[in-house]
Amino acid sequence: MDSFLIKGSVPLHGEVAISGAKNAVLPIMAAALLTAEPCVIRRVPNLSDVKFMGQILTWLGAQVRFEGDSVRIQARKIKGAGDYDLIRKMRGSICVMGPLLGRLKKAAVSLPGGCVIGARPINLHLKGFAALGAKVVIENGYVHASAKRLVGAAMFLGGRAGPTVLGTANVMMAATLAEGVTVIESAACEPEVVDLASFLNAMGAQISGAGSPTVTITGVKELHGAEHEVIPDRIEAATYAIAAAATNGEVTLRGARADHLRAVLDKLKDAGVGIERSSAGITVRRNGRLKPVDITTLPYSGFPTDVQAQMMALMTLTPGISIITERIFESRFMHVSELTRLGADIEIEGPSAIVKGGKPLSGAPVMASDLRASAALVIAGLAARGTTQVNRVYHIDRGYENIDGKLRQLGARIERIEES
Ligand code: EPZ
Repeated sequence: MDSFLIKGSVPLHGEVAISGAKNAVLPIMAAALLTAEPCVIRRVPNLSDVKFMGQILTWLGAQVRFEGDSVRIQARKIKGAGDYDLIRKMRGSICVMGPLLGRLKKAAVSLPGGCVIGARPINLHLKGFAALGAKVVIENGYVHASAKRLVGAAMFLGGRAGPTVLGTANVMMAATLAEGVTVIESAACEPEVVDLASFLNAMGAQISGAGSPTVTITGVKELHGAEHEVIPDRIEAATYAIAAAATNGEVTLRGARADHLRAVLDKLKDAGVGIERSSAGITVRRNGRLKPVDITTLPYSGFPTDVQAQMMALMTLTPGISIITERIFESRFMHVSELTRLGADIEIEGPSAIVKGGKPLSGAPVMASDLRASAALVIAGLAARGTTQVNRVYHIDRGYENIDGKLRQLGARIERIEES
């Protein structure tokens, strides 16, 4: 398994191109299953999760061809069942279920199972499918959904932690081919859901209200092929913004959309970080001393849970006390123990982490555990004195395109050690 060797305390300077959004492209690739015609998706990031989704679609019978930063998908004929092992390995693949149900009126995928950040239930996805008239059965580790007809319905998809992003995506995709009108209340408002809705509408769907808590889908007979350019990855952009602040540097995030990052940019400003918007993107620079901030992760447009770990890394460098509260997932503090190995002073109190920042970090070997926790460790390593080795970086390759190459371009001393 590869690892990164990082020699810290080097301010990052320069410009980084922000790639297409992982969490938009995964459901959008799945949406291509809804038509027998070809779809072309552009600004596709070169990530292991994206390649994996391509394998799943191929397994389902679609023709998938990656060409540069585009992918051409044509699902002339497809199977209704996903391969148990393939689907179990990547939670995001649950979003093939909605398109399979919409197109074939049947779908069977393996239960995605939990991961290090939480149980990751899919009860709300299944509640939405059932509301459309599907019979849902869980047996032998698979979840089966089938329906003679899908009929539009009104439904409430809010759960214990608020809306569900992929649940909204899944039900929206199935509803595009249902008979009649579907209204999803407490729909997720994330930009990735909006991007999916615009792709579906380009395919001939009739969706309104995406980005608001109430999404209306008027079913149509069939969908046609379409082309689409994926939105830039707001989580990747936030990660580089925080890395710039953590290393006392100045970085321009080329192609980043400030309107997708309001909560993050607001918190960075409160922390004393300089933010400047321009036509090229967003320029982030450290403006002297950092100030502690309190963070609570919330559904969009609140502070994103996917940036919680990275912000915690920044707060370990900030003199004072910051309180970081995770409200979306039940165990998203895996990075705390590893940050502590670098010298951070963090105490967990229930859903909150109390960060007593300001002491310089010192490099050490640390273990990546999940995608965003790993990014936090890279940020901490970039700021720490001495050398940090981040192990199991396959976690990072899932969601960050060429992160070591992009960081080197910004002056970071980071190298990938490929373990045979
Ligand atoms: C998406 O996951 C993202 N993944 C996650 O990003 C992101 O953290 C999450 O949304 C929240 O923003 C992709 O888009 C591929 P949820 P998703 O359903 O859709 C509970 C990353 O690092 N819930 O919005 O699976 C759930 O337990 C990843 O890029 C139910 O209770 O998340 C959680 O507490 C990590 N029942 C909350 O809702 C359900 O049926 C939000 O989960 C579904 C979810």
